[in-house]
Amino acid sequence: MSGESEVIHGDCLTELRGLKDRFALVYLDPPFFTNTTQRAVTRDGRNEYSYEDSWPSMESYLEYMKARLEAVLNVVTENASIVYHCDRRTSHHARLLLETLLGVDSFRSEIVWTYKRWSNSKKGLMPAHQTLFWFTVGDDYIFNQRFEGYSPTTNVDQLLQMRTRDSRNKSVYAYGDNGSVIPNGAKKGVPVSDVWDIPYLNPKAKERVGYPTQKPVALLSRVVEMFSNPEDYVLDPFCGSGTTLVATQLHGRTGVGIDLNQDAVALCRSRLQNPVITQSKVLEVGRESYRRSDDAWESYLIGLDVTPVHRNSSIDAVLENGHHGLPVLFRVQRPGESISALSISMAEAVEKKQAAAGFIVRNRNQRAAQGRLFNEVLCDRVYVVDSVGCQVHAALAALN
Ligand SMILES: C[S@@+](CC[C@H](N)C(=O)[O-])C[C@H]1O[C@@H](n2cnc3c(N)ncnc32)[C@H](O)[C@@H]1O
Repeated sequence: MSGESEVIHGDCLTELRGLKDRFALVYLDPPFFTNTTQRAVTRDGRNEYSYEDSWPSMESYLEYMKARLEAVLNVVTENASIVYHCDRRTSHHARLLLETLLGVDSFRSEIVWTYKRWSNSKKGLMPAHQTLFWFTVGDDYIFNQRFEGYSPTTNVDQLLQMRTRDSRNKSVYAYGDNGSVIPNGAKKGVPVSDVWDIPYLNPKAKERVGYPTQKPVALLSRVVEMFSNPEDYVLDPFCGSGTTLVATQLHGRTGVGIDLNQDAVALCRSRLQNPVITQSKVLEVGRESYRRSDDAWESYLIGLDVTPVHRNSSIDAVLENGHHGLPVLFRVQRPGESISALSISMAEAVEKKQAAAGFIVRNRNQRAAQGRLFNEVLCDRVYVVDSVGCQVHAALAALN
């Protein structure tokens, strides 16, 4: 079990001196050098929050950050990760500063957090990303690999077929002695890269608490999960509304947050009493928008862990873990499609992909017009199963 989160009011420079804990992960989201007062109002319009982000010069800003980063380095474990969040205004300076304090070899990644924006009032390219520098103190750092879904343009062979190297060391699909494909067993997805496509909080997002420059829990969840382990101590010395602490609470870590702003500390404490997270459904919607328009098929496979297959007319999805290392294919019958035609194309797909089995889900709407039966299936590894709707329809018909 994780310990209770702690929120401290004060300048992190001085407050860090009093901390006894050693942190495996420090996430810093300081003011970005916008040279304005950052303001926002709560969704009900009742409260306004603000913090100061005005500086006499870039030098004074960097001095301020340097002193606080040095203080952070006194409270970390020997293999800690430091994740420093900034944007185009200071990213070039921030990386140099971190390299000066930690050493060039401590640099691990420049993570680009990208999100969709729809309007740009200024002349020029619309900024649509921020930067998170990931540095580590030692070499034995924590890194928990995470996987994302396949891109809609991934073709089915990439999902199912083993790869090998040819004589020129080029990656190619592997084939057996008789020219048959070799299945590659279960696949987890694509390892997360250094470009993170995570939606910014929209004005109506449930988790929005009205704090200026509040970050999404989905972003902090990924940071916390990838760079720390359960029960680790995680520090956010510029915690604002406490997004990091919500994420640490969610993932069983112990969070400590510090903020100069008394209102932020109060907000953060109340947020931890009742954490609200906007479901990352939007992430899915982003991906979904590339899919075929007839995606109603997915509802027929509810209850199965499947990976959707795109751009393949014979297969809608594959079973995530396959069956004894072999792929299992699915295709849902669409309006106007005949089971026998689907059986033929599924039989070919099963053969070609060396699949353990192919399932066609018969849609109840088709049953009467179809009139074809299960035993007309053409290949012994192709099965026709009735959808729930189809079964209910048949049961009701039998009642008459
Ligand atoms: C970019 S905001 C953090 C937003 C936060 N990540 C969130 O999701 O709500 C930066 C915060 O740093 C705080 N801050 C600025 N200087 C500070 C300092 N020396 N010590 C602690 N907090 C500081 C500001 O009050 C502000 O809340």
